[in-house]
Amino acid sequence: MIRFNPTNAAAFVPAHAVAQLLPQLELAHRQLLDGSGPGADFRGWIDLPARPDTEELARIREAADYIRREADVLVVVGIGGSYLGARAVIEALQSPFAASQTAAERGGPQIVFAGHQLSGSYHAELLDWLDGKRVCVNVISKSGTTTEPAIAFRILQRYMESRYDEEEVRRRIFVTTDANRGALLDLARARGYARFVVPDDVGGRYSVLTAVGLLPIAVNHDIDALLAGAAAAREAWLHVDDPLTAPPYAYALWRNALLRAGYDTEFLVHYDHQLRWFVEWWKQLYGESEGKDGRGLLPAGVEFTSDLHSMGQFIQDGRRRLIETVIRVNTPCRSLSVPFDEADGDGLNYLAGRDLADINARALEGTTLAHVDGGVPNLQVEIETIDETSLGWLIWFFEFACGLSGYLNAINPFDQPGVEAYKRNMFALLGKAGYEDLAASLQERLGR
Ligand code: PA5
Repeated sequence: MIRFNPTNAAAFVPAHAVAQLLPQLELAHRQLLDGSGPGADFRGWIDLPARPDTEELARIREAADYIRREADVLVVVGIGGSYLGARAVIEALQSPFAASQTAAERGGPQIVFAGHQLSGSYHAELLDWLDGKRVCVNVISKSGTTTEPAIAFRILQRYMESRYDEEEVRRRIFVTTDANRGALLDLARARGYARFVVPDDVGGRYSVLTAVGLLPIAVNHDIDALLAGAAAAREAWLHVDDPLTAPPYAYALWRNALLRAGYDTEFLVHYDHQLRWFVEWWKQLYGESEGKDGRGLLPAGVEFTSDLHSMGQFIQDGRRRLIETVIRVNTPCRSLSVPFDEADGDGLNYLAGRDLADINARALEGTTLAHVDGGVPNLQVEIETIDETSLGWLIWFFEFACGLSGYLNAINPFDQPGVEAYKRNMFALLGKAGYEDLAASLQERLGR
């Protein structure tokens, strides 16, 4: 379950400004449900948890069992929506020290990522590090043509061929892509790799509850509980009587009311190190969905209390156009208490016996009020703990709120036309056929 609390934003926008958005919110809701809004063909994520593809799920579990049995390392190759969801959930559920745990402690193989950038050092180091380990690869690309994962996969496929015979390579590579088209699909068919589907009606950043996220997550974690959490959120919120108090509607309303009042940057704040990659997933979800047509709240992320010693000054005291949305976790998975010390040289005995979870909670409350006093409206999203079920709730909550929020902001939350600009320039500079004219003009601008 999730609770949403806008109390600490109320001083920054009048209640009537929030209420005035209600008719637009109703329209946004209708558009999401009946497909009358832009990008309507990409709303499949709404119902994913309610109508899971049981056959695909069985194949995902079977592949995950194989990987758990036969691999020390799973390399997940993908970029943007094709890796951030899986990474967010895996990093939230595993130990921060998973990299140095044994397979038994971790619950299965180590999961690492590739093809999410073009760093030569990263990929060279990865190949060196893989040596001597039993490796499986899951390459994920809906289009099947994205340059970064395509390059990384070509390198990794060659590496696998240098380590294993043809049959073994075939068993150890898993492909997640479109069911009907794309270079990756052709390659998977030609080589006979096991294939999983990114449904046509689900875009990359909304795809964590398809095979895109579920296969890597299933290797070490419980995907049934993740899906059950998302299904419960959908059941609770797909239709509601009072949008002003129902969490995804209220979140969409408040952030848009604040945007209209001149607040154009939103920090998603967490106090639990495990949620670090969840914030990266959220940044991509909201950034790519809403940042278009010259509009949108800039999504940023901070980890407190660490970043109170870097970004804290700016948030407290810098340019006043920021809002904070805090994820509050009521019961962390584990905790410790501060020991009593006879000498009390550090003066900490006033905290002796106090639990770190309790101290962190007071840091959250104190920081919230300090930032509110500094002029930063604060929204709070509260969850009970960090487990598969609560992450399922959070994922559906943020996705649904993102769809509502995009329509409230009069944009198409399901496309990403802006992502093409860098690709065109990169292809031209790399000498790809068909980009000759663009290449000449770019070379001139680069002074070459
Ligand atoms: O959210 C999105 O649609 C994008 O971030 C894509 O996931 C990303 O560009 C990768 O695309 P693909 O899966 O086609 O390789």
